[in-house]
Amino acid sequence: MNNFVAKNLYDKVCLLAKDKIVVNAYSGQGELSRLLAEKAKFVYGIEVQTSAHMHAEQIKTSNMQNICGKVEDKLGEIDKNVDLIVLDPARAGCKASVLDEIINRKIHKVCYVSCNFSTLLRDIAVLQKNYDIKSVEIFDMFPMTAGLETLVIMQQRGS
Ligand SMILES: C[S@@+](CC[C@H](N)C(=O)[O-])C[C@H]1O[C@@H](n2cnc3c(N)ncnc32)[C@H](O)[C@@H]1O
Repeated sequence: MNNFVAKNLYDKVCLLAKDKIVVNAYSGQGELSRLLAEKAKFVYGIEVQTSAHMHAEQIKTSNMQNICGKVEDKLGEIDKNVDLIVLDPARAGCKASVLDEIINRKIHKVCYVSCNFSTLLRDIAVLQKNYDIKSVEIFDMFPMTAGLETLVIMQQRGS
Protein backbone atom coordinates (compact mmCIF):
# COMPACT_ATOMS: atom_id res chain seq x y z
CA MET A 1 0.00 0.00 0.00
CA ASN A 2 1.19 3.49 -0.82
CA ASN A 3 0.95 5.21 2.58
CA PHE A 4 1.18 8.69 1.08
CA VAL A 5 -1.87 8.05 -1.12
CA ALA A 6 -3.73 6.36 1.75
CA LYS A 7 -3.08 9.37 4.00
CA ASN A 8 -4.35 11.68 1.29
CA LEU A 9 -7.60 9.67 1.07
CA TYR A 10 -8.07 9.52 4.86
CA ASP A 11 -7.34 13.27 5.18
CA LYS A 12 -10.15 14.02 2.71
CA VAL A 13 -12.58 11.84 4.67
CA CYS A 14 -11.55 13.36 8.02
CA LEU A 15 -12.05 16.92 6.72
CA LEU A 16 -15.80 16.21 6.73
CA ALA A 17 -15.87 15.02 10.34
CA LYS A 18 -15.23 18.24 12.28
CA ASP A 19 -17.58 18.37 15.30
CA LYS A 20 -19.86 15.78 13.69
CA ILE A 21 -21.42 12.55 14.90
CA VAL A 22 -19.94 9.99 12.54
CA VAL A 23 -20.58 6.33 11.76
CA ASN A 24 -17.59 4.53 10.27
CA ALA A 25 -19.22 1.48 8.72
CA TYR A 26 -17.07 -1.55 7.79
CA SER A 27 -14.43 -0.03 10.06
CA GLY A 28 -11.83 -2.83 10.03
CA GLN A 29 -9.13 -2.42 12.68
CA GLY A 30 -10.33 1.05 13.63
CA GLU A 31 -7.46 3.11 12.22
CA LEU A 32 -9.78 5.40 10.25
CA SER A 33 -12.19 5.65 13.22
CA ARG A 34 -9.29 6.83 15.34
CA LEU A 35 -8.32 9.51 12.79
CA LEU A 36 -11.95 10.60 12.46
CA ALA A 37 -12.21 10.84 16.25
CA GLU A 38 -9.46 13.49 16.28
CA LYS A 39 -11.90 15.85 14.54
CA ALA A 40 -15.36 14.47 15.26
CA LYS A 41 -17.64 14.92 18.23
CA PHE A 42 -18.21 11.16 18.38
CA VAL A 43 -17.41 8.17 16.14
CA TYR A 44 -19.19 4.82 16.01
CA GLY A 45 -17.24 2.07 14.22
CA ILE A 46 -19.07 -1.02 13.00
CA GLU A 47 -17.05 -4.11 12.04
CA VAL A 48 -18.08 -7.75 11.77
CA GLN A 49 -14.70 -9.42 12.25
CA THR A 50 -13.97 -10.05 15.93
CA SER A 51 -10.17 -9.81 15.65
CA ALA A 52 -10.40 -6.45 13.83
CA HIS A 53 -12.93 -5.23 16.40
CA MET A 54 -10.58 -6.23 19.24
CA HIS A 55 -7.77 -4.20 17.64
CA ALA A 56 -10.10 -1.20 17.31
CA GLU A 57 -10.92 -1.56 21.01
CA GLN A 58 -7.22 -1.30 21.83
CA ILE A 59 -6.76 1.99 20.01
CA LYS A 60 -10.07 3.66 20.85
CA THR A 61 -10.39 7.15 22.29
CA SER A 62 -13.02 8.45 24.72
CA ASN A 63 -15.18 9.73 21.83
CA MET A 64 -15.21 6.38 19.98
CA GLN A 65 -17.46 3.35 20.30
CA ASN A 66 -16.64 0.14 18.44
CA ILE A 67 -19.60 -2.09 17.67
CA CYS A 68 -18.95 -5.70 16.66
CA GLY A 69 -21.49 -7.00 14.16
CA LYS A 70 -22.92 -6.54 10.69
CA VAL A 71 -23.65 -3.01 9.53
CA GLU A 72 -27.07 -4.18 8.33
CA ASP A 73 -27.90 -5.29 11.91
CA LYS A 74 -26.18 -2.61 13.97
CA LEU A 75 -26.68 0.70 12.14
CA GLY A 76 -30.35 0.83 13.22
CA GLU A 77 -29.33 0.44 16.88
CA ILE A 78 -27.47 3.77 16.92
CA ASP A 79 -30.07 6.16 18.24
CA LYS A 80 -28.11 9.42 17.83
CA ASN A 81 -28.58 11.92 14.97
CA VAL A 82 -25.78 10.84 12.66
CA ASP A 83 -24.32 13.67 10.53
CA LEU A 84 -21.89 11.66 8.42
CA ILE A 85 -21.57 8.00 7.47
CA VAL A 86 -18.36 6.60 6.03
CA LEU A 87 -18.87 3.41 4.03
CA ASP A 88 -15.83 1.29 3.18
CA PRO A 89 -17.35 -2.10 2.39
CA ALA A 90 -15.71 -5.18 0.92
CA ARG A 91 -16.09 -5.79 -2.84
CA ALA A 92 -19.70 -6.94 -2.42
CA GLY A 93 -20.73 -3.40 -1.47
CA CYS A 94 -23.58 -2.54 0.90
CA LYS A 95 -26.75 -4.51 1.55
CA ALA A 96 -29.88 -2.75 0.26
CA SER A 97 -31.15 -2.46 3.84
CA VAL A 98 -28.09 -0.38 4.79
CA LEU A 99 -28.76 2.09 1.97
CA ASP A 100 -32.47 2.25 2.94
CA GLU A 101 -31.50 2.99 6.55
CA ILE A 102 -29.20 5.84 5.44
CA ILE A 103 -31.99 7.34 3.30
CA ASN A 104 -34.68 6.92 5.97
CA ARG A 105 -32.53 8.47 8.71
CA LYS A 106 -31.70 11.42 6.45
CA ILE A 107 -28.01 11.22 7.26
CA HIS A 108 -26.62 14.50 5.96
CA LYS A 109 -23.44 13.24 4.23
CA VAL A 110 -22.23 9.92 2.85
CA CYS A 111 -18.58 9.25 2.18
CA TYR A 112 -18.27 6.05 0.16
CA VAL A 113 -14.82 4.45 -0.24
CA SER A 114 -14.85 1.56 -2.69
CA CYS A 115 -12.46 -0.89 -4.32
CA ASN A 116 -15.10 -2.16 -6.78
CA PHE A 117 -16.60 0.15 -9.42
CA SER A 118 -19.48 -2.19 -10.16
CA THR A 119 -20.96 -2.37 -6.63
CA LEU A 120 -20.09 1.30 -6.05
CA LEU A 121 -22.20 2.32 -9.07
CA ARG A 122 -25.03 0.02 -8.00
CA ASP A 123 -25.12 1.50 -4.46
CA ILE A 124 -24.71 5.10 -5.57
CA ALA A 125 -27.63 4.71 -7.96
CA VAL A 126 -29.84 3.85 -4.95
CA LEU A 127 -28.56 6.75 -2.85
CA GLN A 128 -29.01 9.19 -5.75
CA LYS A 129 -32.76 9.14 -5.14
CA ASN A 130 -32.08 11.41 -2.16
CA TYR A 131 -28.42 12.39 -2.41
CA ASP A 132 -26.38 14.51 -4.82
CA ILE A 133 -22.82 13.60 -5.72
CA LYS A 134 -20.46 16.34 -4.53
CA SER A 135 -17.16 14.81 -5.63
CA VAL A 136 -15.56 11.69 -7.07
CA GLU A 137 -11.84 11.00 -6.69
CA ILE A 138 -9.69 8.00 -7.55
CA PHE A 139 -6.71 6.96 -5.45
CA ASP A 140 -3.99 4.61 -6.67
CA MET A 141 -3.43 3.15 -3.23
CA PHE A 142 -1.95 -0.11 -4.52
CA PRO A 143 0.46 0.91 -7.34
CA MET A 144 1.43 -1.70 -9.95
CA THR A 145 -1.85 -3.55 -9.36
CA ALA A 146 -5.21 -3.24 -11.14
CA GLY A 147 -6.84 -2.11 -7.88
CA LEU A 148 -8.00 1.49 -7.42
CA GLU A 149 -9.86 3.09 -4.52
CA THR A 150 -12.66 5.50 -5.32
CA LEU A 151 -13.97 8.13 -2.91
CA VAL A 152 -17.46 9.48 -3.57
CA ILE A 153 -18.89 12.20 -1.35
CA MET A 154 -22.66 12.61 -1.41
CA GLN A 155 -24.92 15.12 0.31
CA GLN A 156 -28.59 14.77 1.14
CA ARG A 157 -30.57 16.76 -1.42
CA GLY A 158 -31.87 20.06 -0.09
CA SER A 159 -29.77 19.99 3.10
C1 LIG B 1 -12.55 -2.81 2.65
S1 LIG B 1 -12.40 -3.32 4.32
C2 LIG B 1 -12.39 -1.74 5.13
C3 LIG B 1 -11.49 -1.70 6.29
C4 LIG B 1 -11.30 -0.35 7.01
N1 LIG B 1 -12.20 0.68 6.60
C5 LIG B 1 -9.89 0.10 6.92
O1 LIG B 1 -9.64 1.20 6.38
O2 LIG B 1 -9.03 -0.62 7.37
C6 LIG B 1 -14.01 -3.93 4.65
C7 LIG B 1 -14.26 -4.35 6.08
O3 LIG B 1 -15.65 -4.64 6.24
C8 LIG B 1 -15.80 -5.77 7.08
N2 LIG B 1 -17.14 -6.31 6.78
C9 LIG B 1 -17.51 -7.07 5.72
N3 LIG B 1 -18.86 -7.27 5.72
C10 LIG B 1 -19.33 -6.59 6.80
C11 LIG B 1 -20.64 -6.36 7.32
N4 LIG B 1 -21.71 -6.90 6.74
N5 LIG B 1 -20.77 -5.59 8.42
C12 LIG B 1 -19.66 -5.06 9.03
N6 LIG B 1 -18.40 -5.23 8.57
C13 LIG B 1 -18.24 -5.97 7.47
C14 LIG B 1 -14.63 -6.66 6.76
O4 LIG B 1 -14.34 -7.54 7.82
C15 LIG B 1 -13.53 -5.61 6.54
O5 LIG B 1 -12.85 -5.32 7.73
